[in-house]
Amino acid sequence: YLARRTPSTGASYLTRRGFASDSTPVRKVAILGAAGGIGQPLSLLMKLNPLVSSLALYDISGTPGVAADVSHINTRSEVLGFAGEEQLGKALKGADVVIIPAGVPRKPGMTRDDLFNINAGIVKSLCAAVAKYCPHALVNVISNPVNSTVPIASEVFKKAGTYDEKRLFGVTTLDVVRAKTFYAGKAKVNVADVNVPVVGGHAGVTILPLFSQATSSANLANEEIEALTKRTQDGGTEVVEAKAGKGSATLSMAYAGAIFADACLKGLNGVPDVVECSFVQSTVTDLPFFASKVRLGKNGVEEVLGLGALSDYEKQGLEALKPELKSSIEKGIKFANA
Ligand code: NAI
Repeated sequence: YLARRTPSTGASYLTRRGFASDSTPVRKVAILGAAGGIGQPLSLLMKLNPLVSSLALYDISGTPGVAADVSHINTRSEVLGFAGEEQLGKALKGADVVIIPAGVPRKPGMTRDDLFNINAGIVKSLCAAVAKYCPHALVNVISNPVNSTVPIASEVFKKAGTYDEKRLFGVTTLDVVRAKTFYAGKAKVNVADVNVPVVGGHAGVTILPLFSQATSSANLANEEIEALTKRTQDGGTEVVEAKAGKGSATLSMAYAGAIFADACLKGLNGVPDVVECSFVQSTVTDLPFFASKVRLGKNGVEEVLGLGALSDYEKQGLEALKPELKSSIEKGIKFANA
């Protein structure tokens, strides 16, 4: 609904009213960190999604205002705001999908790993609440460093006895969104026709776009592919620097988060062939978590798809990213069990 336009009129989804047909299932989505830079536009985009019937907006403060504002939009879902830890249980109860953009963003000069000390604890406590109040929800972790926060979430769920690897996702969609945009610009093809898988993790060199598999195909020189790869890996930093201390990507991230949550909802609803890249528990490489294409279904992950044929440059990138990704995963697991 976000990417497509209404063919007959050319009007965008924004001008259509988001009423779903009677057969559309009831689906509750909870956003944790909903008053933040990502949380607010993500709340708006999820309010526009006709697959959502109930939208719970949770943050430590500020959510009554966001909820009151968003709730006036004439689309299907009812919107409720929840502020403060004592309301977290109510926000989560009955949720089908929980999206977590809670935590501090980067400032210039910081890596995603520099956020670990604050965000690891936030994700740990929020996931403990998910285990308690909505253990069967699909969990979309946006909070960085994703390479560590997803393993943290898995350990929290294991301890609570609720872990289901099919229901835990690190959101790497923004890397795909960026790869598509940058590729289309360089290859001079219609961005609407472009797809680029992005695998590995979600930080610096662990982000590995597979431009050799990009559609529409274009004959780009090796140097151009290398420059596109670097730009995709540094896309977050490009935004952090441009915002000069006012945070990291929020609007493009909200778009990416909305795309991924929409894919999760479609999968839950039984729509066939819903495939998105995500950082999930994986046997695609020797690492326990890895981002690759994932087929989504009624139980979350239906199938983790393999990497396909890689160019020599991508093979090198894959080997180069493994040590950093491994250590970020281990750091998360160690923190969760400390
Ligand atoms: P922000 O600071 O604008 O908003 C974060 C929100 O989280 C705030 O409203 C804050 O009150 C809330 N929060 C803090 N502790 C909380 C708790 N215990 N429970 C509920 N809410 C809590 O930050 P922004 O820009 O929205 O970024 C959020 C996170 O998303 C950061 O960790 C950032 O690094 C990450 N991010 C991830 C991306 C990805 O591709 N996965 C891309 C961009 C950002």
